[in-house]
Amino acid sequence: MKKILVTGGTGYIGSHTVVELFEAGYTPIIIDNLSNSSIGVLDQIKKITGIKPEFHNLDLCDEKQVKDFINKNPDIEGVIHFAASKAVGESVEKPLKYYHNNLFSLINLLNAFSDRKVNFVFSSSCTVYGQPDELPVTEAAEVKKAESPYGNTKQIAEEILKETATSNPNFNILSLRYFNPVGAHKSALIGELPLGVPQNLVPFITQTAIGKREKITVYGDDYNTADGSAIRDYIHVVDLAKAHVAALKYLNENTITDHYDVFNIGTGNGYSVLEVIRAFENTTNVKLNYEIGERRSGDIEQVWGDITKSKQKLGWTAKLGIEEMMRSAWAWEVYLRDENPFEL
Ligand code: WQD
Repeated sequence: MKKILVTGGTGYIGSHTVVELFEAGYTPIIIDNLSNSSIGVLDQIKKITGIKPEFHNLDLCDEKQVKDFINKNPDIEGVIHFAASKAVGESVEKPLKYYHNNLFSLINLLNAFSDRKVNFVFSSSCTVYGQPDELPVTEAAEVKKAESPYGNTKQIAEEILKETATSNPNFNILSLRYFNPVGAHKSALIGELPLGVPQNLVPFITQTAIGKREKITVYGDDYNTADGSAIRDYIHVVDLAKAHVAALKYLNENTITDHYDVFNIGTGNGYSVLEVIRAFENTTNVKLNYEIGERRSGDIEQVWGDITKSKQKLGWTAKLGIEEMMRSAWAWEVYLRDENPFEL
């Protein structure tokens, strides 16, 4: 049975994690308010796994809705909490929306589970490191002042989780600090759903390649890196999804010190923007129309993760390389154009 609550489970990372949970023998239950995803994802997941996930459209910021749901589901053993607003730029324009949505939802969930034992995996982000002083960045690195309200909500959420776990032994909690999730399931039936103009690099690349965008701008080539463009640790979304299954297994098999721990979930390799563009062109044989532009405010220069701790404790490492990230991202974009599965 092993019922796992997946909040934000119709989203990009959430949907890929639901697939991996089914494959690992869990029973995922999705809560999502569909504010940044489509309910059609449920049928897409069924095409992959043969099972249509149980789904509830609830507002996690509504304390009563959350409490009633959790009390009606006493057999939920674990939670993976993805649901949050995540656009860095939007968070600068609408900070209160981000603090309200990202923190009220977390607090309501924790309150609803406080009277029973539960394993809790939280979707955090390498954004908490800001520009690390040393690379690769380890989990022991200083958490720096966030560059955006979005990043600040992740930092505050980690503090809430750590203090809740220390004060209430019912909780066993892991925060997974993702680097840059990209790519799509090998079936091309699920992927990053493009609602509006993409903020992130890879969806902008694939939309430019398919002709939805005229060109892509490289935000700066005057950084202190080999080719001048900024470096990130891109991780295939399926590897990231598998890390959540490994995290649940770890929580099932271990009681962790202070009931709280943090893990970097990346590949340990950094790629520059120009290297990603070249990798896309070489993998897909599609030429990209790009230009060099100004730096984007709030961007850091370079970051990639030290994933030793995840490898040693979770027994997890990323397996898929940049070519599969680019191939699968492109296949997903082509599928969206040819099949239009969500009538977007
Ligand atoms: C990557 C690189 C851009 C678009 C953010 C969040 C992080 C996570 C992922 C939610 C940067 C450059 C981008 C473009 C470009 N979000 N770029 N042209 O900013 O590293 O991380 O998204 O969980 O928490 O902080 O990702 O994909 O936006 O940018 O040159 O059109 O690509 O400047 O160097 P980022 P990104």
